[in-house]
Amino acid sequence: MNNLIQKYNIPGPRYTSYPTVPFWDNDSFSKQRWIETFQQSFDESNEAEGISLYIHLPFCEALCTFCACNKRITKQHSVEVPYIDTVLKEWKLYIDLFSSRPKIKEIHLGGGTPTFFSPENLKKLMDGIFEYADVADGYEFSLEGHPNNTTREHLQMLYDLGFRRISYGVQDYDLKVQKAINRVQPFENVKQATEEAREIGFTSVSHDLIFGLPHQTLEGMTETINLTKSLNPDRISFYSYAHVPWIKGVGQRGFQDEDLPSPEQKRELYEEGKRMFEEMGYFEIGMDHFALEHDSMYQSMKNHTLHRNFMGYSSSKTQLMVGLGVSSISDSWYSFAQNEKTVEEYEKSIHSGELSVFKGHILSEEDLTMRKHILNLMCNLETSWEGEKMQINNIERIKIMLEDMIDDGLIEFKENGLIVKEEGRPYVRNVCMTFDKRMIDNQPETRIFSMTI
Ligand SMILES: C[S@@+](CC[C@H](N)C(=O)[O-])C[C@H]1O[C@@H](n2cnc3c(N)ncnc32)[C@H](O)[C@@H]1O
Ligand code: SF4
Repeated sequence: MNNLIQKYNIPGPRYTSYPTVPFWDNDSFSKQRWIETFQQSFDESNEAEGISLYIHLPFCEALCTFCACNKRITKQHSVEVPYIDTVLKEWKLYIDLFSSRPKIKEIHLGGGTPTFFSPENLKKLMDGIFEYADVADGYEFSLEGHPNNTTREHLQMLYDLGFRRISYGVQDYDLKVQKAINRVQPFENVKQATEEAREIGFTSVSHDLIFGLPHQTLEGMTETINLTKSLNPDRISFYSYAHVPWIKGVGQRGFQDEDLPSPEQKRELYEEGKRMFEEMGYFEIGMDHFALEHDSMYQSMKNHTLHRNFMGYSSSKTQLMVGLGVSSISDSWYSFAQNEKTVEEYEKSIHSGELSVFKGHILSEEDLTMRKHILNLMCNLETSWEGEKMQINNIERIKIMLEDMIDDGLIEFKENGLIVKEEGRPYVRNVCMTFDKRMIDNQPETRIFSMTI
C-alpha cells in the first residue's frame, strides 16, 4: 500500500466543480453572459425541478487554524444585521432577473458559522428569502452548525422554517489535536447539540471529522470514532485534511509542518476510520462520506442519483444553484460565477445595485462532456461514453494515462467505459485528473491544490 501512496499522492483537485476554479477561463466570461445563462437555466428548470440556494454566512468568533473555508473572525455581533440586509438585497437583484416566482428545492446555510447569527436574525434572513419564493415538493433545507454555539432556539426556529438536516463540525476529540487547531470543543457540547436537534425533529444529523490533522494518532482517532459512535449520527463526513497554507487568509499557521502525520500515517488513519465506520453499519459514499442505510445520501448512491457540487455531495440535483453571500459560487449548469471574496467588496457591489460576481466560466461542449464523466466517477465510481461523441483522441489519451492504475489493480476498462475498483476508491481524484482536459492543457506552474491522499 505504501508504494501506491508514494506513487499516487500528488496535488489534485477535489472536483466540487469542473472545470475547477483555477482553470476557469475568465477572459470569455462576463457578468452579462452569466445573467443570460442563468436566465436560460431558470426558464428551463424552475417549473419542473425548482432551484437551489446556497447562502454563505462567513463570521466565526475564533479562528480554527486548520480551516480552509472563507471566513471572517470577529466577536462583534453588530455585523449580523448589515450582512443579512446585503444578502437580501442580492436576492432581490436575482428576483428581478427571474421571469417568474422561483420554487426552492434546496437551501444550504454554510460558512463560516451560520449559528454565529442569532435565531432572530436567521429568521429575518429566511423570511426575506421566502417573501419572493415558493417551496418545491420534496424540498431539503440544511445548515452547518458549530456545536459550541448552536442553541435550542436556533434549532427550533430553523425546524419551524422547514430545516431537517444539520451538520456539526467535530473534527477530533483529542485535546492535544484540539489545542493545535485552536478549537477546544468538549464532547458534551456535541452530544447536547446532536440530542437537541433529534428531539426537535431533525431527521439527519451529520458529524464532520478530519483525518491528517496535527498530532493525530491512531489511538486518538479510534477514541474519536468511538465517541462519535455513541451519538450515532446519520451521516459522517470524514475529510482528508487539506493543507493549503499558501492560500491567503486560511490562517493555517498554528502548528508546524512536522506536527502533521506523514502520508502513510494519514492513509492508515483513513483505513482505520473506514474499517470502524463499516463495522458500525455505515456505508462509504463517493469520497469523504459515510451514511447509515436509512439516510437519503445512501439511498441516492444506490439509485445512482447522487450529485456533487460546491457544497460536496448532495442527494438531489437542480440545474440552477444560486449562491448568495461573500465568495459564494453559483452554477447555472452552462456557467459558473463567483462573488467577491471579502465582505467589504461584496457589500460594496451589492449596495451599488450590481451583482457581486467578479469571475466565472462559461462551459464549452467539451467541458460539459468532461464534467459529466468526472461527476459520474466522483458519485458512482464508474462512467461510460457509450453512444457519445467523446473524441477518440481523448479516450486514447485517458487510456494511456491510466495504464499504471490498471496494472496496479485500481481500475478496469469495460467496453466504452471504465470502473474504479474498491481498491481504487482512495485514488478516484487521480482518475478524474485524466479527464481534466483544462488542467492537462494548462499545467499549473505553482502549487494550487492539496495532496490527493
Ligand atoms: C464551515 S465548517 C463547519 C461549520 C462550523 N464553522 C464549524 O466549524 O463547526 C465546514 C467543515 O469543513 C471542514 N474543513 C474546513 N477546513 C478544512 C481543511 N483544511 N481540510 C479538510 N476539511 C476542512 C471541517 O470539517 C468543517 O467542519
Ligand atoms: S472550522 Fe468553522 S468555526 Fe472554525 S474557522 Fe472554519 S468555519 Fe470558522
